[in-house]
Amino acid sequence: MPSMNALPPTSKSSPDGSVAKAPVWYWGFFVLWLLVLPVAHAAGQPPAAAIASAHPAATRAGLEILQTGGNAFDAAVAVSAALAVVEPYSSGLGGGGFWLLHRVSDGKEVMIDGREKAPLAATRDMYLDSQGRPVAGASIDGPLAAGIPGTVAALAHISKHYGRLPLKQSLAPAIRLAKEGFAVNEHYRRMARLRLDALRASKAAARQFLKGGEVPPPGHVIRQPDLATTLQVIADKGREGFYAGVLARRMVKAVRAHGGVWREKDLLAYQVVERKPVIGHYHGWRVVGAALPSSGGVVLLEMLNMLALRDIRAMAEADRIHYLVEVMRRAYRDRARWLGDADFVDMPLQRLLSPEYARELASTISMTRATPSEKLADFKAEGRDTTHFSILDKQGNRVAATLSINYPFGSGFVAEGTGVLLNDEMDDFSIKPGVANVYGLVGAEANAIAPGKRMLSSMSPTFLESESGVAILGTPGGSRIITMVLIGLLQAVEGNAAEHWVRQPRFHHQYLPDEIQVEPGAFSEKLQQELKKRGHRLSIKERPWGNMQAVYWNRKDNEVEAASDPRGGGLAIKSSK
Ligand code: DON
Repeated sequence: MPSMNALPPTSKSSPDGSVAKAPVWYWGFFVLWLLVLPVAHAAGQPPAAAIASAHPAATRAGLEILQTGGNAFDAAVAVSAALAVVEPYSSGLGGGGFWLLHRVSDGKEVMIDGREKAPLAATRDMYLDSQGRPVAGASIDGPLAAGIPGTVAALAHISKHYGRLPLKQSLAPAIRLAKEGFAVNEHYRRMARLRLDALRASKAAARQFLKGGEVPPPGHVIRQPDLATTLQVIADKGREGFYAGVLARRMVKAVRAHGGVWREKDLLAYQVVERKPVIGHYHGWRVVGAALPSSGGVVLLEMLNMLALRDIRAMAEADRIHYLVEVMRRAYRDRARWLGDADFVDMPLQRLLSPEYARELASTISMTRATPSEKLADFKAEGRDTTHFSILDKQGNRVAATLSINYPFGSGFVAEGTGVLLNDEMDDFSIKPGVANVYGLVGAEANAIAPGKRMLSSMSPTFLESESGVAILGTPGGSRIITMVLIGLLQAVEGNAAEHWVRQPRFHHQYLPDEIQVEPGAFSEKLQQELKKRGHRLSIKERPWGNMQAVYWNRKDNEVEAASDPRGGGLAIKSSK
């Protein structure tokens, strides 16, 4: 805010009644100050708050909290908890996530790591049979697939250390939604159909999410009284309400009765970690990316470092797409080869993120031929649902959060009497070197299962900042998350509106399988032919992917934009509070 000292001196009456005039030099400064005022103000505080999330009820829950005196962090707690209720196929109390925060009062940037951890009784080969072959579905369906959840610990942590309101108040909208219910839509039905067998296998899940053992009809209201009670216990007791006591005992008992390996000490020991985001630069923008155990920051910056070496905007379309694909292929190779939980493995991060390495890697790109993934040196593969929201408050605090229970409806298992749907995030580990997970990703030693270890993630909540503005973005989409964020980010750097970042047609390469995955309609016939001529294999997908939620504070024009991916049913709103 401008200080009062910047105003012209108040006219003073002199004893003879004449009015003393401010000196001419002063008026010069005053006019100058009036000119810079909008810029100075814009740099400090946005003209509006904004929230974009994947469900209208969750966006409204966040808005309610902002309007009752909460900051962006309180709103993030409210949105996360509401999504846990109304998007049960995407995230929840039985899952985890990453919350990227920027606090304006001291400029603190931190990633709250609420990623699930492998139970202490987990073993490296727990999803393999006696011949060392992966057991179909073992890391995806039922409670053996569930990591120890981190969401509740993260919400309690964010509320306590960053929020203004008590946890009770921030959880209130979610409790209400769990009691009153929400109406089933087509997306819910598609997700439930996909996971019908897993949901039917858990009595409590079938009761909570199906109707008579079938996918509920559109408009059917899903009420979750057990989940409302669990949220209330957390509101009253904080994290202890979930990780200790009756609720914890109930979850452990149910998990163990159905083939899982959780113990009470797993829950008691769970801690969130505050991690330093991965920072990089691209064409004058500062990029704040997700830290490990998300591969998002490292892979994104590796790609940007290679892109920065060429003027991709000046390239013909086929050249640009080819170069982008080759960049994606190489960065995803490094993901598979090197990355895992930083608390467990040493990784050559400095080298991976260095400009020299980017130059070395980029020098192996031929502009006329695709590099077959198997020919990339130094790695032999031997040995969906999720949600994102973005928030900006009127002080300028910001949150980008991507949360997950992994596959739609997670493991499909609800611990009886808790309403908590458990994740199947264990599948994000490399269950055997070179064996692809549900998103087709392969991994190596760095991402092998170990007790208490966090599984590597692609979730990439991201900030971008320059004199022009501040962007907050992210999306669900498994292995494709990082390339979606890249495509959105390039739109932002080009100066396009947030609406374009979320709308932009998508394509993706993840090293293995060695193919360009393409959204329907994203590539023209001509472009497809040109890419095939260079040796690329194209896989045109039937359905589009992702559900990007973005907020942009345009500092130059002092305007705020919020945009929700047209592929999903989310809601982006701005508010003067
Ligand atoms: O952490 C990860 O990378 C995955 N569990 C995310 C899964 C996901 O985005 C599914 N969404 N469609």
